[in-house]
Amino acid sequence: MSTHLSPNRRQLLLQGAALGATASGLLLPQHVLAQSSKIRVGFMLPYTGTFAQLGVAIENGVRMAINEQGGKLAGREIEWFKVDDESEPSKAIENANKLVQRDKVDVLIGTVHSGVQMGIHRVARESGVLNLIPNAGVHVATRAQCAPNVFRTSFSNSQPTTALGEAMVKRGHKKAVWITWKYAAGEEAFEGFRDSYTKAGGTIIKELGLPFPNVEFQALLTEIAALKPDAVACFFAGGGAAKFMKDYAAAGLKDKIPLYGSGFLTEGVLDAAGPAAEGVLSTLHYGDGIETKRNQEFRLNYAKTFKMQPDVYAVQGYDTGLLLVQGANAVKGDLSKKADLYKAMEGAVIDSPRGKWTMSKAHNPVQDIYLRQVVGKENKVIGVAAKALSDSGAGCRL
Ligand code: PHB
Repeated sequence: MSTHLSPNRRQLLLQGAALGATASGLLLPQHVLAQSSKIRVGFMLPYTGTFAQLGVAIENGVRMAINEQGGKLAGREIEWFKVDDESEPSKAIENANKLVQRDKVDVLIGTVHSGVQMGIHRVARESGVLNLIPNAGVHVATRAQCAPNVFRTSFSNSQPTTALGEAMVKRGHKKAVWITWKYAAGEEAFEGFRDSYTKAGGTIIKELGLPFPNVEFQALLTEIAALKPDAVACFFAGGGAAKFMKDYAAAGLKDKIPLYGSGFLTEGVLDAAGPAAEGVLSTLHYGDGIETKRNQEFRLNYAKTFKMQPDVYAVQGYDTGLLLVQGANAVKGDLSKKADLYKAMEGAVIDSPRGKWTMSKAHNPVQDIYLRQVVGKENKVIGVAAKALSDSGAGCRL
């Protein structure tokens, strides 16, 4: 600053600098601006509907990881923004733009539903805003349409079920019925199940489905009873999953035809499902009973802070926070240094309650898949169904 300025003029310039602009209206370099303001973090998650509790658990997890850093990212304050996406794909682009265009977030954390994710994905690719996916497993996001600014901290839709079929055949169930909500997540979960089940020697005698988020299961359960398979495998989650397990038991099927699932079936719903969930077997990248200090401390702290038990969604949210912290630290809080930020995130090793995982080239977790069984109010881990499983990332060029 030159010395011949009057004290008043100098004062004005200094005040302007704190706001990121000089008194004459000239903008300061981006990195100075970036350091002086808050980091803007937006949640786009379901806070209503069948996935409402998933959205809450994810937000809790993210906040927990950030709170462990004193509530800041690389020493910078955070301003939070929130949009309820209602798991409604038709509103997804508009909702994502509320965060990106209106609120000008630096990071968009979202979402749960694969169809809604496709809207976010379009906005993320067009705007270049950093998008961290804390759940939705839709394949193309980390396959043919992978993007340098999009990172997933959860799973791809076929990852959890890739190990399910073999586990069922090993237990002697050679003829199965598959049932799901008919949308990307259910259909792609089926791909993993179909491949693993048929490869292990099983036969899928029928695929059943209903539109998301419909929970009128009765006619389909009647059909299952008539088909008499050795076992049933499914993808459901959230409120709908609890209702499915209850209806399955109420229809008298629970003791006759063993029920298996992509592990989301029994996540966050054990209180709601009650005895109907007891004994259900599933495969997933997390289990309550993982016997590591890391997991046990996480569970204790989460329960203390939020007065509820954590589940896979809380873990995914927590890991999203851990990834963001690692990225932000690598660029000393200057998220405008995109090349360095992405490089740090690509090389991140996430020390998660689920076990350590790394990022694949296409930005999807490489992780273990556990075999779990519901015992009381716990998803007990009874084995490792797949070690260091990565999604194919087919068609991704990064
Ligand atoms: C999805 O739509 O991708 C989805 C939703 C809920 C889950 C898992 C996947 O539990």
